[in-house]
Amino acid sequence: MKKVMILLVVGAMLATPAFAVIRNSKHDLSSSSTAIVKAGLGDETCVFCHTPHGGATGILAPLWNRTIPGGGFAVGDLYNSATLDQTNSNPTTVLNAVNNSDAPLCYSCHDGRSLESGLTNPSNADGQPLDGNLSGGVTGFMDLDASNEGLTNDHPIGMDYGAVQVADTAGFNAEDTANVDVGGLPLYTSTGVMWCSSCHDVHDQGGFQPFLNMTNVGSALCTTCHIK
Ligand code: HEC
Ligand code: HEC
Ligand code: HEC
Ligand code: HEC
Repeated sequence: MKKVMILLVVGAMLATPAFAVIRNSKHDLSSSSTAIVKAGLGDETCVFCHTPHGGATGILAPLWNRTIPGGGFAVGDLYNSATLDQTNSNPTTVLNAVNNSDAPLCYSCHDGRSLESGLTNPSNADGQPLDGNLSGGVTGFMDLDASNEGLTNDHPIGMDYGAVQVADTAGFNAEDTANVDVGGLPLYTSTGVMWCSSCHDVHDQGGFQPFLNMTNVGSALCTTCHIK
């Protein structure tokens, strides 16, 4: 009897639809979204980041539909401290990795300035959907760059996770090099570099807020990498 119950429960779980729930999340800027910050015109969810045709090439997200602010990050825009292994010894390596990560994509909205800049290929139905309503009346609503400090006071990214871990095996859990992840958190490029999306899921998969890849209850996200 117990076995039947377990099978029924497992069956019910398998029948649950996929978890990705960008619709009505804070990343759903479509006019019918329940998010506060959204467009007045333009009732498509994906169009604010992706286009089916004519997407920007050489960008690290597929079919990218946004203009990336020019210039990129400089060494002084990045987090640094005496206890970092990678940033101190390899500032240029880390800088290149950050400029080639998803950080510029996130910053195309999260710098607090560029949200309303044009889409590469606006929706056919609505034309350019960015009509000035996008702030939703919220000020500083997503300004990661509030005092123009770049990423200097944010968790470091751009490091080769495996290189850091090998230098400090007591401090970090080992990378799964076959899957290029650590405890299921994704690392990027063939060498396993940390990006924003190592911690965040921009599509809100699983519903761990704010857009996290896993729960951070008890700081579980942090201890997936850090042995603390
Ligand atoms: C706020 C910006 C944003 C929106 C809106 C968005 N995406 Fe994405 N998408 C990204 C970023 C950034 C990446 C690259 C990072 C990653 O792989 O998760 C990505 C990657 C992807 C990928 C390839 C990797 C994967 O997860 O499979 C697919 C497919 C995708 N998006 C589909 C969609 C669809 C379909 C929608 C609309 C229902 C959508 N996205 C809406 C930002 C967005
Ligand atoms: C198309 C513009 C856009 C892009 C691109 C974008 N975001 Fe956002 N993001 C937003 C908006 C709008 C909000 C909601 C701000 C608010 O309501 O306070 C938001 C909110 C968030 C939040 C906070 C959610 C919460 O519950 O408070 C996180 C975390 C986040 N974004 C991460 C990312 C990451 C990581 C990337 C890149 C992989 C990214 N975003 C790319 C527009 C964007
Ligand atoms: C090491 C993991 C990690 C990395 C890497 C990371 N974040 Fe976060 N981020 C978090 C966590 C955890 C929170 C929630 C903080 C809280 O609730 O106190 C958060 C919160 C946010 C928020 C909500 C506003 C805020 O300041 O709390 C935004 C926006 C955001 N992240 C964007 C980004 C972007 C863009 C990047 C890459 C440049 C990035 N994050 C890299 C873990 C990370
Ligand atoms: C995907 C793996 C990963 C996750 C998740 C992660 N970290 Fe880290 N963190 C690192 C790596 C790698 C470094 C060290 C980079 C170096 O030494 O060059 C680091 C560095 C740090 C540092 C030291 C910065 C310094 O100046 O030396 C602190 C503090 C820290 N992380 C806190 C956190 C917290 C808090 C969380 C959870 C919100 C978290 N980390 C989540 C990988 C991670």
